[in-house]
Amino acid sequence: MANDLMQQLALLEREGSEAIDAAVEAGDVERLRVELLGRKGRLTGILRGLGQLPADQRPRVGAEANRIKDVLAARLEERKERAVTAVSDEALIDLTLPGRAHWRGGLHPVTQVVEEVCGIFESLGFTRVRGPEVETVEYNFTKLNTPLDHPAADMHDTFYLADGVVLRTHTSPVQARVMEEFEPPIRVVVPGTVYRRDPFDASHAPAFEQIEGLAVDEGITFIDLKATIAEFARRFLGPQTKTRFRPSFFPFTEPSAEVDVSCQICGGEGCSACKRTGWMEIMGAGMVDPAVFEAVGYDPERYTGFAFGMGPARIAMQRFRLPDIRLLYENDMRFLEQFG
Ligand code: DAH
Repeated sequence: MANDLMQQLALLEREGSEAIDAAVEAGDVERLRVELLGRKGRLTGILRGLGQLPADQRPRVGAEANRIKDVLAARLEERKERAVTAVSDEALIDLTLPGRAHWRGGLHPVTQVVEEVCGIFESLGFTRVRGPEVETVEYNFTKLNTPLDHPAADMHDTFYLADGVVLRTHTSPVQARVMEEFEPPIRVVVPGTVYRRDPFDASHAPAFEQIEGLAVDEGITFIDLKATIAEFARRFLGPQTKTRFRPSFFPFTEPSAEVDVSCQICGGEGCSACKRTGWMEIMGAGMVDPAVFEAVGYDPERYTGFAFGMGPARIAMQRFRLPDIRLLYENDMRFLEQFG
C-alpha cells in the first residue's frame, strides 16, 4: 500500500517534471500548477490514500509527498519566469481608440462648382465642350474683336510660348472654335483653365478656371440672356436669388454687362462678404458682337446670340466664404477635406 503510493508519487514527479519542461507559455505553466498541485490536483488525489495507511508508514510517504511538492513548485516557478506571454489578436485591439476611417477621395471645391454650374446649363439644353489651353493670338484676341493694340488686350498680355502662340487668357476663344465647326443653333458651356500675368495674392491667381457660355440662333435677344442667367442663378443659389445687369464693356459682346446676384450670405441686406452692397458679381456677359460673327463666317444679319464668362474659383470663395483664393491651390488636405 505504501509502496503503491510511493510509486504514484515517483510517477507524478517524473511526468510532472517533463510536462513543466515542455510548457512554453505562462498560461500552460499555470494550468500545470493547478493540475499537479492544485486542491483537486494529482498530488492531492494521491494524498487522499494516506489516511488508509498504517500510522507508522504515513510520515515516510508524507515526507516524500512534501519533497515532490516542493520540487514541482520550484520548477513551476522557474518555468513561469521564462515563459512567454501569448498575446492574442483580441488583446491588441484597443476598442477605445478612435476608428481609422478609409481614406476617401473627394472633388476639389472648384471642381464641385464647375460640375454644378455645367450641370445646370446642361439641364437648360447646353452641351459641355472643351478647347485647347495653348491658343493662337488669332483665336485668343483677333477673332474676338480684340486687336492687340486695344487697351482691353493689356490685361491679357501674358504668357507667350512662341510668336503668335499663347497660353489662353480666357475660355472665350472656344466660342470662335465652336462657331467655325458647327452651324447654329448653338448652346455650349466651356469649362477650363486660363492663364494671366496676375499676381498670386488673396484675390488673384495666375492660373484659374473659367466657364464660358455661348448661345447662337435666329432671334435670340437680350431677354434670352437675362432669363437664362436669372434661371441659372435661381437654380444654383436658391429660388429667392435676384439678378442684376450693370453696363460694362467686352470687345466681343455688344452690349456688355457685369452680372451681380443678391448676396448669398446676407440675402441682400448688406454684410462684410458683399462689402455692404447686398450684391455679388458672378460673371461678365453680353450679346455676341456682330464683328465676331463675321470673323467666324456667320451671317450677322441672320444670327444673334449671347455669351457669358464666369470664374468658378470666385464663386467657390463666395459660396464657402473663403478669405483667400490661394487656399484653393495649396493642396492642403486639412483644408480640402472639409469639402469632401
Ligand atoms: N472672357 C472674359 C474674361 O476673361 C469673360 C467674359 C465676359 C466672357 C463677357 C464672355 C462675356 O463670354 O460675354 O474676362
